[in-house]
Amino acid sequence: MTFQDQIQQGIPNELPQPKPYNPAINHAPKRKEILTDEEKKLALKNALRYFEPKFHAELLPEFKEELEKFGRIYMYRFRPDYEMKARDIAEYPGKSEQAKAIMLMIQNNLDYAVAQHPHELITYGGNGAVFSNWAQYLLTMKYLSELSDEQTLVMYSGHPMGLFPSHKDAPRVVVTNGMMIPNYSKPDDWEKFNALGVTQYGQMTAGSYMYIGPQGIVHGTTITVLNAFRKINKEPKGGLFVTSGLGGMSGAQPKAGNIAGCVTVIAEVNPKITKIRHDQKWVNEIHENLDDLVVRVREAQKNQEAVSLAYLGNVVDIWEKFDAENLRIDIGSDQTSLHNPWAGGYYPVGQTFEESNKMMAENPELFKEKVQETLRRHASAINKHTAKGTYFFDYGNAFLLEASRAGADVMAENPTLGREFKYPSYVQDIMGPMCFDYGFGPFRWVCASGNPEDLQKTDEIACEILEEIIKNSPEEIQQQMKDNIQWIKGAQENNLVVGSQARILYADAEGRMKIAEAFNKAIKNGEIGPVVLGRDHHDVSGTDSPYRETSNIYDGSRFTADMAIHNVIGDSFRGATWVSIHNGGGVGWGEVINGGFGMLLDGSDDADRRLKSMLFWDVNNGISRRSWARNEGAIFAIKRAMEVEPNLKVTLPNLVDDKLL
Ligand SMILES: NC(=O)c1ccc[n+]([C@@H]2O[C@H](COP(=O)([O-])OP(=O)(O)OC[C@H]3O[C@@H](n4cnc5c(N)ncnc54)[C@H](O)[C@@H]3O)[C@@H](O)[C@H]2O)c1
Repeated sequence: MTFQDQIQQGIPNELPQPKPYNPAINHAPKRKEILTDEEKKLALKNALRYFEPKFHAELLPEFKEELEKFGRIYMYRFRPDYEMKARDIAEYPGKSEQAKAIMLMIQNNLDYAVAQHPHELITYGGNGAVFSNWAQYLLTMKYLSELSDEQTLVMYSGHPMGLFPSHKDAPRVVVTNGMMIPNYSKPDDWEKFNALGVTQYGQMTAGSYMYIGPQGIVHGTTITVLNAFRKINKEPKGGLFVTSGLGGMSGAQPKAGNIAGCVTVIAEVNPKITKIRHDQKWVNEIHENLDDLVVRVREAQKNQEAVSLAYLGNVVDIWEKFDAENLRIDIGSDQTSLHNPWAGGYYPVGQTFEESNKMMAENPELFKEKVQETLRRHASAINKHTAKGTYFFDYGNAFLLEASRAGADVMAENPTLGREFKYPSYVQDIMGPMCFDYGFGPFRWVCASGNPEDLQKTDEIACEILEEIIKNSPEEIQQQMKDNIQWIKGAQENNLVVGSQARILYADAEGRMKIAEAFNKAIKNGEIGPVVLGRDHHDVSGTDSPYRETSNIYDGSRFTADMAIHNVIGDSFRGATWVSIHNGGGVGWGEVINGGFGMLLDGSDDADRRLKSMLFWDVNNGISRRSWARNEGAIFAIKRAMEVEPNLKVTLPNLVDDKLL
């Protein structure tokens, strides 16, 4: 059967042969056992409803075994045999170009070079799922191959509910992931309802088909490091940045430090991960001896090298050693996985990696104590450095939250709502006021032809547009514009494409709209093939997350999620090709609501109309909310937007003199 035939077939008429478990592939960890015996029966019944009754007797024991062995039913047997990767859009079967673009993006999210646990349909973050099982994948692809531009595919947390009549301006797909009745949104609720097969954790760009590999995180981290140095009025050259983690997202830090031009010292306890990042050339050197490391850091600073030095060991050792040696750290942060402190996200100091892993499984109570003890030491060493002038920020990894729970000295002297801790988060100090409040966020595009030349042309077009816009940009956003021009100029050289031909570029509403418009024209003129637009959910308007994206909202509304919900509803009737709204993502189930979109540009007048209407809303929704929260940059940005678009009329806040209160 051809690739097209297999897509159109959906769930095969004859059962495929069972697939042997391939240990060479990176698999999802066994999930904890949470279902009662009765609930296990329900999970099996739920899984079998995808198949004709004649297959149930054969599939039942297999699914039962998967549930027992892995804690989930993935239906491994149904994983297709064709190569999983984004193909040229022309290779997908179907009636709708928009639907074909979505198939391409789904396959990209499951590409072995892109996905973390491809056989379990997990793209990143350990649990960020595109689908919960292979039957859902097969059915969804079949539906997409049948869908017309007068229909919409409805996705309930990975499950394709079906095709419903709509109209050509409606989204072709509407995705929800993990939407729960709020009271049922605790971490164990995810374990249970995911095991039952009725919901899934979509992360941000996994369950919305918009992940583009590590490029996105490198760009965002580079912007953060550059702006952290600006915050302390220091050139990155010769400056020292100390942090930890060479994992999924944290591994972007040394690469970003190199692009920014500073000396980066990064601790990682896991030797395998350290080696991978070194082989990949994302970190330049590995050190195991602290004395040698100190000598090397001093030398690198003196020579103003842009270099990243991994320390294979615990991050607390570095903070303490550098204090003892009076080595001045300019910028400090931490990216251990403290959103998951008891199951391998954070390793205690003073014991080996293997000892910790053993203790975690055999004596979890003692492990917890060791973690908390380490957090107290960690915070205390950081405090010594900040007293000497180090600028420290929390990297959205729940470091301050967990340290505070462990009784570490991290609380502010006079806490106020949103400023509970001694130190700010990266969004409070950097991304929020410098980027999100002005509308700058992780806009991205994918060249649907799969042709690298198209990507090069789109880079050139985007660069020309930004260089034109900067001529009339106000002083307030000059720096952001310059950073983005520098990024896009170096993008080809940084060679960050993994999977589809994709590019990320922080841009504001004007930039996003003008770049998209220019792409659409280039498609119309036959200069490039179709382009898919999208963005990370970690953006101006897409995400309500009180300790991350909306942590610089100080009017008390950071615990609300109206913005994210409005965003996705607004995008859906302004021309998005697909929209998505998720519970969870980054900081955990129940802790965040995030939404996003995808949009196909095909060179048509319809695409031109849609992109203008939707992108304007997609950015200005969040700016208006940030402005209402009295954020200075956002008040400036929304007033500017109202000048450009007379149909935009936003309620502005009146500022109250604090003395009156
Ligand atoms: N990069 C970003 O822009 C960004 C944004 C928001 C949040 N985060 C957060 O950053 C955290 C890290 O994400 P990730 O995907 O890299 O996770 P990950 O689990 O893949 O990587 C974390 C790494 O830290 C290492 N580690 C743990 N304890 C350590 C210790 N005491 N000393 C040295 N190394 C230690 C682990 O071995 C692991 O490799 C998450 O909590 C994530 O939510 C990152």
